[in-house]
Amino acid sequence: MSNLKVSMEEFIENACERIRREAAGRPVLCALSGGVDSAVCAILAHRAVGDKLTCLFVDTGFMRKNEGDQVVALFRDTYAINLIRVDAADRFLAKLKDVTEPECKRKVIGEEFIRIFEEEAKKLGTVGCLMQGTIYPDIIESGVDGHKQVKAHHNVGGMPLNIEFEAVIEPIKLLYKEEVRECGRKLGLPEAFTNRQPFPGPGLAVRCIGALTKARLNILREADAIFREELEKTGLQREVQQYFVILPDLQSVGVRNGERCYEDMVVLRAISTKNFVTAGAVRLPYELIETVVARITSEVKGVNRVMYDVTPKPPATVEWE
Ligand code: XMP
Repeated sequence: MSNLKVSMEEFIENACERIRREAAGRPVLCALSGGVDSAVCAILAHRAVGDKLTCLFVDTGFMRKNEGDQVVALFRDTYAINLIRVDAADRFLAKLKDVTEPECKRKVIGEEFIRIFEEEAKKLGTVGCLMQGTIYPDIIESGVDGHKQVKAHHNVGGMPLNIEFEAVIEPIKLLYKEEVRECGRKLGLPEAFTNRQPFPGPGLAVRCIGALTKARLNILREADAIFREELEKTGLQREVQQYFVILPDLQSVGVRNGERCYEDMVVLRAISTKNFVTAGAVRLPYELIETVVARITSEVKGVNRVMYDVTPKPPATVEWE
C-alpha cells in the first residue's frame, strides 16, 4: 500500500521544500524518541532548515542498553544537529514509585513526558513550529480524516501539550511504516534506526513487571541486550518482528557455587506477525536458546532462571503489561 505518487527521492525533496515553506523562517522543535519516525523527521527538518532545528531527546531511563547514547551520538555528533538531552530517569522513577498497574504506568509516564517537554520548550523561548512524526497508520487509527477510530493512541506523549505552537509540521504523515524505513535508508540513517523493531513508548517500564527500580531495570536491560545480540548473530532478526526480554516479578530457588540462591527469572519473547493484531511465537533454534540461557545466568547478576514464552496472540498479547 502506498499514498506516494512520486519516487522516494522526489518525496524527500518535496518534503524538505514543504518544511521550509511551513516553518517560514521560524525555529522548529522536534522530539526524538529513538524510533525511526522521529529520526526521519529530524533528518528531513535538518536538511530543510539546518540550525533552525532543535531536537529534544527525553531519556526516560526506560530505553534499551546504550540506546540513549546512540541517539545522541548520531544526531549530535554525526549530523551536528542541535540536540538537547534531558536525563530524566530519576524523575520518572520517583513518579512511578509504588505504581505497578500497567495502564497507570503508561499514564504516569505519558504525563511526565509531556511536562518535561513543555518545560524544555519553554526554556528555549520562542519555538514557532513543532515537528511531529505522525505516520499514515496513526491517522487511520486515530479516526481523523474521516476514518473510524480503531485504537486509542497509547504512545508516550500521546497527550495534549499545554503549550501553543504557531504551526505543527508533519512531513511523513502520508507514509506507511515501510516507506518511512525506506526514506530513512535514502537519507543515510544507520540500520539500527531504519530496521529498529517496534518498541513501546513506555519502553522497559512495561517489560519490568510490577515495581520499577534502577536495579530491576538494569537486570532487564542486560538480559535483553544479550538476547538481542545472540539472536542477531543468527540473522533471525529479518524474520522475527519483535524479540525482547521480560522481567516478571517472580523469584525462584536455584544453586550457585554449590549454595542455595533465591533469584529473579527472566522471560524470552520472540514473535512473528504481519499486523501486531495477531502474532505467533517464533520457533527459535534450541542452540540459540541454550546460548542465551547460559550467558544470561552467568553474566546477569541475580538471575538464575530463564523461561521462553511460546504463547500466541491471542490469547496473550505481545507485551506482558
Ligand atoms: P500488544 O502487547 O498490545 O502489542 O499485543 C502490540 C504492539 O504494540 C506495542 N505496544 C505499545 N506501543 N506504546 C507503544 O507505543 C504502548 O504502550 C504499547 N504497548 C504495546 C507492542 O510492542 C507491539 O508491537
